[in-house]
Amino acid sequence: MTGEPVLRVEHLVKHFPDGHGATVRAVDGVSFTLGAGESLGLVGESGCGKSTLARTVIRLLEPTSGRIVFRGVDITHASKRELRSVRRAMSIVFQDPYASLNPRMRAGEIIAQPLRIQGVWRSGGEERVAELLHTVGLNQQHASRFPHEFSTGQRQRIGIARALALDPELLILDEPVSALDVSIRAQIINLLDRLRTDIGLAYLFIAHDLAAVRQTCDRVAVMHLGTIVETGTREDIYRRPTHPYTQALLSSVPVTDPGLRGRRRRIRLTGELPSAIDPPSGCRFRTRCWKATAHCANETPALIDRNGHPSACFYPELASP
Ligand SMILES: Nc1ncnc2c1ncn2[C@@H]1O[C@H](COP(=O)(O)OP(=O)(O)OP(=O)(O)O)[C@@H](O)[C@H]1O
Ligand SMILES: [Mg+2]
Repeated sequence: MTGEPVLRVEHLVKHFPDGHGATVRAVDGVSFTLGAGESLGLVGESGCGKSTLARTVIRLLEPTSGRIVFRGVDITHASKRELRSVRRAMSIVFQDPYASLNPRMRAGEIIAQPLRIQGVWRSGGEERVAELLHTVGLNQQHASRFPHEFSTGQRQRIGIARALALDPELLILDEPVSALDVSIRAQIINLLDRLRTDIGLAYLFIAHDLAAVRQTCDRVAVMHLGTIVETGTREDIYRRPTHPYTQALLSSVPVTDPGLRGRRRRIRLTGELPSAIDPPSGCRFRTRCWKATAHCANETPALIDRNGHPSACFYPELASP
């Protein structure tokens, strides 16, 4: 990574009112950076705040506090007008490809929409749409079809084509493959890998399991109940995980590396993800952690950097169960 990162997120917080006078701490103090052309995987269980983080970073949601710096510019409270240029350079592929595509618009119109909104639709726009369809492995005939006339994998490709329309520098991918079956999943991941090589895009790649981001990501951030508990290179996270939560997530990933086979035991997390309204005191993972002590209830472990591999645990060196 050279120079200023494309994206710098500092202590970002997004709280929601729950409708009954309480506060949902969906994102509760998240920091990370993303370099040009870099792919960062963001992984954690359902409900841990991944989509909220994604939507806040791209400013579809107003941050509660913290800072978002994109290409050196603070966009935390950027106005609608100021966000126009942000929307060209940073785009998002939404988690649910069906809900995020207007059912009454044809694929070609959906892909062209960002160009029209930004006022860059010119004659020759149809050619750009054809080019984008081709980029994502569809063809020009698909332009006249409606979303319901596509398979889920194809719909995801349309979402990706739309996100690429304005030549972004950063693409946020919110669980782009979770709704797909295994073979289509591999196709979309290969497509995303190819785009990154060809166009030099940076990715914030969201997934709920560590298997999905293994191929595509240079670095991984593990999120648990609104906070990041461990970050590191792909090597760090898959070979030397130090946070018990990462170890638990990793234990459910099929082992393909012969060197690791037999060394890893399946860790079953007991109990549900605690509530984001009333999170446990101290370490938020302690209620499900086999290493937890009284210390973990009394004090919140900070994300401490150990040789470029930060982990928010008081006992990162102890062996897993
Ligand atoms: N608009 C909202 N109002 C109130 N609470 C919300 C809102 N959006 C999200 N939440 C809550 O914030 C928390 C995080 O939700 P979010 O959708 O970000 O999780 P996620 O990690 O993306 O989960 P999944 O993997 O299921 O997509 C959840 O407790 C959710 O109920
Ligand atoms: Mg989500």
